[in-house]
Amino acid sequence: MASAAITTMSISLVYAQTGLGAKSKPVGLNFSSPKSFKSFSGLKAASSIEIESETSFLGKESNAALQASFVPNIKPRQRFPNQLQPRASTYKVAILGAAGGIGQPLALLIKMSPLVSDLHLYDIANVKGVAADLSHCNTPSQVLDFTGPSELANCLKGMDVVVIPAGVPRKPGMTRDDLFNINANIVKTLVEAVADNCPDAFIHIISNPVNSTVPIAVEVLKQKGVYDPKKLFGVTTLDVVRANTFVAEKKNLKLIDVDVPVVGGHAGITILPLLSKTRPSVTFTDAEVEELTVRIQNGGTEVVEAKAGAGSATLSMAYAAARFVESSLRALDGDGDVYECCFVQSELTELPFFASRVKLGKKGVEAVLSADLQGLTEYEAKALEALKPELKASIEKGVAFVQKQAAEAASV
Ligand SMILES: NC(=O)c1ccc[n+]([C@@H]2O[C@H](COP(=O)([O-])OP(=O)(O)OC[C@H]3O[C@@H](n4cnc5c(N)ncnc54)[C@H](O)[C@@H]3O)[C@@H](O)[C@H]2O)c1
Repeated sequence: MASAAITTMSISLVYAQTGLGAKSKPVGLNFSSPKSFKSFSGLKAASSIEIESETSFLGKESNAALQASFVPNIKPRQRFPNQLQPRASTYKVAILGAAGGIGQPLALLIKMSPLVSDLHLYDIANVKGVAADLSHCNTPSQVLDFTGPSELANCLKGMDVVVIPAGVPRKPGMTRDDLFNINANIVKTLVEAVADNCPDAFIHIISNPVNSTVPIAVEVLKQKGVYDPKKLFGVTTLDVVRANTFVAEKKNLKLIDVDVPVVGGHAGITILPLLSKTRPSVTFTDAEVEELTVRIQNGGTEVVEAKAGAGSATLSMAYAAARFVESSLRALDGDGDVYECCFVQSELTELPFFASRVKLGKKGVEAVLSADLQGLTEYEAKALEALKPELKASIEKGVAFVQKQAAEAASV
């Protein structure tokens, strides 16, 4: 088989394993036809301005870079004259909790990004083997492992993006809030280290309950005097990924084109999919709205129950987190067309933090977009009001946790 054909197969399999589309074909991708990439989708959110049917696994530039790395003799611009030249792999990413159910597949997906030069994997145990395994993949980034608190500072120095999936996952019957007592301390400690060693990094919080762990991170960063609201994100991408998938299934739409904004928070009724804002425009019966909304809100529980005690969503979460990392890296790299829903400091509502679509740029959040909240249906408007007390309480719980610890430390 010619090397180009082998390359074709490799790329195709990449997409088949990680793209959204069940309809993606694992073979037959022809590099000489730009159109063939249009049939795949993945780690790139739809533009907020218009639907991009050209969305691709790693985004426009990364996609070109990935091709170039597999077919070095052919410049991407020759094949895709309208695409930007790929940039060098320059970004440094750390995953804290990298040996876990989310951390491992997330590390694999990030290892595939041609934008990443260094991938640092940190955990309190079992991370050496994960890094050794991953380091054998012949993609550009160098993988290093770091075990335990004594190696955390070295892991973090110079990082551009820090992703935090460390903590315990839910078991059947537990809510995300039940995780608070354990994960609050873990997130606090890790964010303190981020503040000390790479205060300019984008911080992606995955550890639940995100509605409280993000405010915890904010308080820690404030205490350290390095809080930049543009660079701290609660990762809610999985809610968007689920909403897109469930709506596409229900309405028999092409997965690649569906874009449903999800706002509010990241637990139960605080997750509010704005189905009326689905693109392409579709109509739903009242019963469909209720069924889809409840399914999207309970997507995590669906997985927790199916895993029956063996953890919560890991593979779909890794996929969603990798998409958010890729979006952040594209924004850092100067792409001016990067939009994602995430849980950030916000003035869209009376709550200090709120998940909504934001525009990402080199310095983090460039704009928190209000457009999705205009012209809500009666159902959505009521659901928005209903979620506020619970989200407010979760936010306050996070803030109080850090402030109480600080007060106790001060009184000793
Ligand atoms: N944001 C979301 O959409 C979303 C979705 C699913 C799960 N989660 C959350 O992600 C977290 C991780 O889930 P998982 O399934 O990967 O769990 P897991 O138990 O499989 O992995 C967690 C990892 O964190 C590590 N860890 C524990 N304490 C640590 C510390 N102090 N420093 C560094 N690492 C530490 C563990 O050793 C383990 O490897 C959970 O809190 C879960 O609820 C979030």
